Amino acid sequence: MNMNKNSGQNLSSLLLDWYQENKRDLPWRRSKDPYSIWISEIMLQQTRVETVIPYYTRFLQDYPNVRALAEAGEEEILTSWKGLGYYSRARNLHRAAQMIQEKYQGIIPNAYEDLRLLPGIGDYTAGAVLSIAFNLSFPAVDGNVLRVVSRIAGWEEDIRDAMGREKIGHIVSGLIPPGRAGEFNQALMELGAELCIPKNPLCTDCPIRSCCSAMSTGRQSCIPVKKQAKSPVPLEYWVAVLRRDKSVLMQYRDQTALLGRMWGFPMLIKMLSAEPLNEFTQQIGLELREMRRLGETKHVFTHQVWRMEAIEFIWEETQNELPKGLAWIPFDKMDHIPIPRAFQKIIKLCDIGV
Ligand code: ADE
Repeated sequence: MNMNKNSGQNLSSLLLDWYQENKRDLPWRRSKDPYSIWISEIMLQQTRVETVIPYYTRFLQDYPNVRALAEAGEEEILTSWKGLGYYSRARNLHRAAQMIQEKYQGIIPNAYEDLRLLPGIGDYTAGAVLSIAFNLSFPAVDGNVLRVVSRIAGWEEDIRDAMGREKIGHIVSGLIPPGRAGEFNQALMELGAELCIPKNPLCTDCPIRSCCSAMSTGRQSCIPVKKQAKSPVPLEYWVAVLRRDKSVLMQYRDQTALLGRMWGFPMLIKMLSAEPLNEFTQQIGLELREMRRLGETKHVFTHQVWRMEAIEFIWEETQNELPKGLAWIPFDKMDHIPIPRAFQKIIKLCDIGV
């Protein structure tokens, strides 16, 4: 970037002043505890601030420190995470907490290399924890920061590219004022969240507009440059809904499946299942008799979109035991097991448990 030391200092102090005046009062900003910062940064990945706040507060009540998290059961942690999505984050947090407990007696390390060896801690999270909790001069380049800095620098290369990220990281490192890494990184994030937004950025309110290459050349709408992401693959499913007294038949998903080791419903891919009645009968091992279509719902993942059509079956007991992984879940237990959002939508659609 074409920026001499003075203009870099100028930019940093304008941004920090603006941040002091305008920063949102967010729960993780009231703490310097590395554990709380770590939890917040993991939750905030791919997830909006407003969505995270109640989860963060509850999670810290349930697991107030590394030890509590390390000693909890995975199923219980996944239940707290229910609805937040990207469940590997919760599993990695759990494993990392166990490693921190064992190797560092529950104290979060403050060395980049040590943090990076923990599951779920990539370059961004390591930088965020080191800068926000320990005030060490590391960049923390998330999507907001990529956008802000590529606009300031007039960067026209693809920001999905790892090299691009690294270069943006270098630019940020050069801008961090000594001793203020945590505030500075959060100020960049805040600017990206509040003013330097993807579409129609609010440049007239921006404290660093005079330092912005994109603004001075009218290129705000074409920077950052992002190669088109692949669109998610559409998949259509039949979903079987079977009720018995005050319970519903659910399936513990195979660990290799998407949403693995959590609870869902028996499903079949429509394209491969011309006769869902027969095929579900085989899969479930009960005598299925009638069916009624209950409606459709959709869930969007990063790489897939599921369209799920729920069908209710009337069924008769057989001598057979339920196949492995299937279980009758009482309605009042559904709040206490991990059921990801895709399947919560089925529960809602079909009024299960009401
Ligand atoms: N997104 C990621 N980290 C954040 C933070 N510390 N504050 C606000 N938004 C964020």
